[in-house]
Amino acid sequence: MPVKIFSASVVGIDAQLVEVEVDSSPGLFSLNIVGLPDKSVKESKDRVAGAIKNSGLTPPSGKHKKIIINLAPADVKKEGPSYDLPIALGCLLESGQIKFNPEKRLIIGEISLDGSLRHANGVLSVAILAKKLGFKELIVPVVNAKEASVISGINIIGAATINDVIGHITNLSPISPYVFSGQRPENEANSGDSLSFIKGQESAKRALFVAAAGGHNILMFGPPGSGKTILAKALSEIIPPMNLEESVEVAKIHSSAGLIKDSYLSFKRPFRDPHHTTSAVAVIGGGTFPKPGEISLAHRGVLFLDELPEFPRSVLEALRQPLEDGMVTVSRAAGSATLPAKFMLVAAMNPCPCGNYGDNKLNCICSPINVIRYRKKISGPLLDRMDIQINVSRETVDGNGQKKIVNIDEMKNSIVTARKIQENRFAKSPIFTNAEINFKNIDKYCVLEPEAERILKNAITNKNLSMRAYHKIKKLGRTIADLAGSDIIRENHITEALAFRVNENIFSELA
Ligand SMILES: Nc1ncnc2c1ncn2[C@@H]1O[C@H](COP(=O)(O)OP(=O)(O)OP(=O)(O)O)[C@@H](O)[C@H]1O
Ligand SMILES: [Mg+2]
Repeated sequence: MPVKIFSASVVGIDAQLVEVEVDSSPGLFSLNIVGLPDKSVKESKDRVAGAIKNSGLTPPSGKHKKIIINLAPADVKKEGPSYDLPIALGCLLESGQIKFNPEKRLIIGEISLDGSLRHANGVLSVAILAKKLGFKELIVPVVNAKEASVISGINIIGAATINDVIGHITNLSPISPYVFSGQRPENEANSGDSLSFIKGQESAKRALFVAAAGGHNILMFGPPGSGKTILAKALSEIIPPMNLEESVEVAKIHSSAGLIKDSYLSFKRPFRDPHHTTSAVAVIGGGTFPKPGEISLAHRGVLFLDELPEFPRSVLEALRQPLEDGMVTVSRAAGSATLPAKFMLVAAMNPCPCGNYGDNKLNCICSPINVIRYRKKISGPLLDRMDIQINVSRETVDGNGQKKIVNIDEMKNSIVTARKIQENRFAKSPIFTNAEINFKNIDKYCVLEPEAERILKNAITNKNLSMRAYHKIKKLGRTIADLAGSDIIRENHITEALAFRVNENIFSELA
């Protein structure tokens, strides 16, 4: 009699039900896996045979039968070792060595030759699917139990070995479901005090706070050693933590990329800083079986691109569409996946290859053509997408050249308040921050007082700015007004927002 065990595969970040069917007929021993398995799935038969033998049971080869294992639906390519456990249990059930009811149970896990279970990727997505399809129980390797237990309404059974699973499903030694403690990791997010060690740079700090409050993209432009990198890295310490909805969304992506190892949900926003030699596929996402790239791993958090002009032009241009849409669709032969990618882009660059261009004390040794070539890596459309563009000039050694305008603790509190205001404002819509307001609802959320509107329109006309820039400045004004606790966007808010776009045309000084 053929038997059927339920399992799942993860395509992109979402899980899909896979039925593992096992059947046998008399004849010389053979074991075939069908249903578009990749090499790691095909190798499963050797791992399964070894694990069953070392667990004290009879492996499929001991039964002198032709065994066929079908992974349905047959038109979806299957990859990875997480079908080992359902295949092993299917073989044992089919050969009558164990008896259990496979209904209402979803099972995944890789097996070692000694019968122990190893970590599987995408368990959170599988738990979401299992709950949606009405399964009562999800059996996973014990190291994945914490991660899956975030999803309530389904029993998560974490097992260490194949014998533990057999004990549980045959009711000989049931394993109790893993219970989510629900504890929020204390002080995990919003901690750290790097900013207070960064001397001076008051206007850059203010720009970072505004960016953090509204989720705005920011480009820092300045000579070497001026503190751009340390400022950007300090950003992760001031962004407020995610809420539960956001963290489940993010954990699903990280789980499918295998980045969650034996941990609960993290409420800390992701901070990804890929090196400029990272390939386009690793940044955008893709691969034979579409996997999330850096932009999706930075979803709801920060993508920091240091030394921006050093990134290949193709990578930078590929960022344009996800920056607008907040998602990316990657299509490959093995299937296509739409991956979320709502991130805050933080970038840093020097003014020229030697870094001294524009400095009134140091000499720039770059020829004008080299400066242009260097800056041309950043296309106009990409620059247009940067809400905040600021200069970070060299700080004096004691950093007290500037008047202190930013009180770090006060600012951290006002960011939290501004994010709360945004949460209430967008309670009935799928967006979270001011930066995500689109052209359809900009007039609804960004109401400017008449004088502010006049100043903005004048600036746009005088500087020949795009409609996108017009909307971005309004959204920046919205965040600055939120930080000040004002419902309406006033003149001083718009003036500050305009001042954040100093490098609107990075080629103007070279023309
Ligand atoms: N304002 C500052 N306060 C304290 N230390 C600073 C400041 N600015 C720079 N530094 C020091 O200079 C070092 C270099 O800073 P950072 O790496 O951020 O420069 P950068 O602007 O990114 O330079 P590059 O363009 O070469 O990448 C820091 O590690 C720190 O030691
Ligand atoms: Mg740097």
